[in-house]
Amino acid sequence: MNAITSLASLALAASVATTALAQDATTPTPPPAEAGAGAAAATSGAAPAAAEPAASGASDAPVAMAEGATTLPNGMDITPATQENGRWYNAEGIPTYKIDNGVVDFATFNGFRRYSAECHVCHGPDGEGSTYAPALKNSVLRMDYYAFQEIVASGKQDVNSAANLVMPAFGTNKNVWCYIDDIYVYLLARGTDELPRGRPGERADKSEEYTAQEDSCMSM
Ligand code: HEC
Repeated sequence: MNAITSLASLALAASVATTALAQDATTPTPPPAEAGAGAAAATSGAAPAAAEPAASGASDAPVAMAEGATTLPNGMDITPATQENGRWYNAEGIPTYKIDNGVVDFATFNGFRRYSAECHVCHGPDGEGSTYAPALKNSVLRMDYYAFQEIVASGKQDVNSAANLVMPAFGTNKNVWCYIDDIYVYLLARGTDELPRGRPGERADKSEEYTAQEDSCMSM
């Protein structure tokens, strides 16, 4: 990505975050049947998705995390420090998850639901990736929170690839954008393996602060 494009997408990400959100974007086009003839044609062999995005800068490869480590490969400390509007943040104010004796915080639980509704179709169940799109549970360990936001807001198209993979822009889709932090922390918890695959079992209640923030975002 050159400097101009990246500035433009940063500006877009910032503006969608701060200004009123437009109506829900139209539903993103799902990948072609059987996960994309293009993806299959572009590479042969065992793992087309892993090979293809890697060549274009996307990061699908597994990331090693020592058990119990609290610092991600990208340098972020995931230790929850403060709670605001029913969501947890680290000491730098970056969203993170909190799992207490197997009980997940509400935002992380909600992230599972939002991911399953909006991202699963291309990125596979539980953040595990598919032949069409990379494993986001690995991406969030490598890219930082702002880079993640920027891609989800503005989308991404793999122009170097014959596969023609498209990540849609979700910056004006409230069902995604009002819950972008929830999706992010859910993927973090999957990436560190602290949250097993599937629907989280026990979860914290939805707080009044969370509900108030949600209502205000959805009604913008
Ligand atoms: C229509 C299919 C589709 C949907 C739906 C979709 N994505 Fe993507 N996404 C892609 C593709 C394809 C790529 C790889 C694009 C590339 O490499 O240029 C991608 C890439 C990404 C990346 C960059 C990953 C990396 O390692 O570089 C992020 C982050 C991402 N998507 C987040 C999301 C989130 C969050 C959602 C749900 C809100 C979502 N995507 C829904 C197709 C999709």
